[in-house]
Amino acid sequence: MAADFSEETATEAVIASFADTSDPRLRELLTVLVRHLHGFVREVEPTLAEWRSAIDFLTATGQKCDPARQEFILLSDVLGVSMLVEMINSRKSEQATDSTVLGPFHVVESPPRALGETIDLVGTGEACLVTGRVLSVDGRPLPGGAVDVWQANNHGFYDVQQPSEQPAHNGRGLFETDKDGRFWFRTVVPSPYPIPTDGPVGELLLKTRRHPNRPAHIHFIVDAEGHVPVTTHIFVADSRYLESDAVFAVKRSLIRDFVTVDDPEEATRYGLASPFRHAHFEIVLEAVATPGHP
Ligand code: BEZ
Ligand code: FE
Repeated sequence: MAADFSEETATEAVIASFADTSDPRLRELLTVLVRHLHGFVREVEPTLAEWRSAIDFLTATGQKCDPARQEFILLSDVLGVSMLVEMINSRKSEQATDSTVLGPFHVVESPPRALGETIDLVGTGEACLVTGRVLSVDGRPLPGGAVDVWQANNHGFYDVQQPSEQPAHNGRGLFETDKDGRFWFRTVVPSPYPIPTDGPVGELLLKTRRHPNRPAHIHFIVDAEGHVPVTTHIFVADSRYLESDAVFAVKRSLIRDFVTVDDPEEATRYGLASPFRHAHFEIVLEAVATPGHP
């Protein structure tokens, strides 16, 4: 029997075509995707030229991707989708540290470094000490936790964006918390930076008169045995763009003062010159729920 694919029946017909999908989650995802996509098309009624330009935009987004550049993540970020997915997947107790976007620059593994080592391999920028502790929600310090950090240099570029100007792994480090759950490392104060604008996402921002900037921040992924890992940042308290982050990733709970410390003894203790800036970050992880114990 010939199918009668009309404006009225189109959505149900496509949904029905997935009826034999054996994975129920895949069937659900496709069903809801088709319902929303068709709803979008019915609402905006694109011209053929508009539809072609949407296809061209997505094609260009894919073509811009390579091992060091992820334009689709960037697109998801500027549309607020990355943050929404992150928040849905990290609903947790009030006390646990808030998560925020991963971003597209965690594309290489951070090199393991000893506590106190510097992640700044260049030596330009304002010297900075970052200290912190990893704790469980019950207040217990978590020794042996993994603290993976990465940041842009003081000009706002990640190492992978400038492979001929920055040494590999500049601004990256993987630390292990000590017996008291503490970690500390040296770095430079990060600066605000624009997300990459030389691709289709940049064009989108330009056409919509949105600025591409992110406030200054340092990225963290923190994990400890028996706990739920958190992907997050700390933001520099007096940074520009805290109120208008291009990727909607600022949470007040993650803003930290990077205080100026003018204390030669303290500076020597951490292998720094005085004065230096100091930020402290207590990271609270939720315990993995065990069956019968929510
Ligand atoms: C980042 O912070 O590295 C980032 C996040 C989203 C888009 C671009 C960059
Ligand atoms: Fe970043």
